[in-house]
Amino acid sequence: MKVLMVCLGNICRSPIAEGVLRKKALDKGLNWEIDSAGTNGYHDGEHPHPLSQKVCLAKGIDISNQISRRIRVEDFSFYDKIYAMAEDVVSDMKRLAGNSFDENKVSLFLEELHPGKNKNVPDPWYGNEDGYTEVYEMIDKTCDAIVSKYAK
Ligand code: 4NP
Repeated sequence: MKVLMVCLGNICRSPIAEGVLRKKALDKGLNWEIDSAGTNGYHDGEHPHPLSQKVCLAKGIDISNQISRRIRVEDFSFYDKIYAMAEDVVSDMKRLAGNSFDENKVSLFLEELHPGKNKNVPDPWYGNEDGYTEVYEMIDKTCDAIVSKYAK
């Protein structure tokens, strides 16, 4: 399975989701391809936010090598599953993808943990470390749900 995690800047939320899902998939011996991207491109070429790196490293996950990139139209055909961290991210993706947007591939990430609730992973960009820890915990639980659902 090929999975793309998407947020706005690809420096706070989706890099954590990429790192956490990659670790869980590897631990289960799953041959999944996982990447992340952002919709706004403001941080292209940057490594994840230091606090995203810190909360991951505290759990033994090193995301320091990741590099921010903007989502591309080709991503909508390449990936099997595209998770948006929040509803504004879905709106951006629809605008950027145009006719390539595929409703069947794109879902709100937290739907895998709380189906039908339309919940968003909060953007920790303007907050402190507690916000990043809260985001990490949500992502960790949701990635467990994703692995349980799709692992064969
Ligand atoms: P992210 O957080 O979408 O979780 O990476 C953000 C990082 C930067 C900005 C917005 C959100 N920004 O506008 O620069």
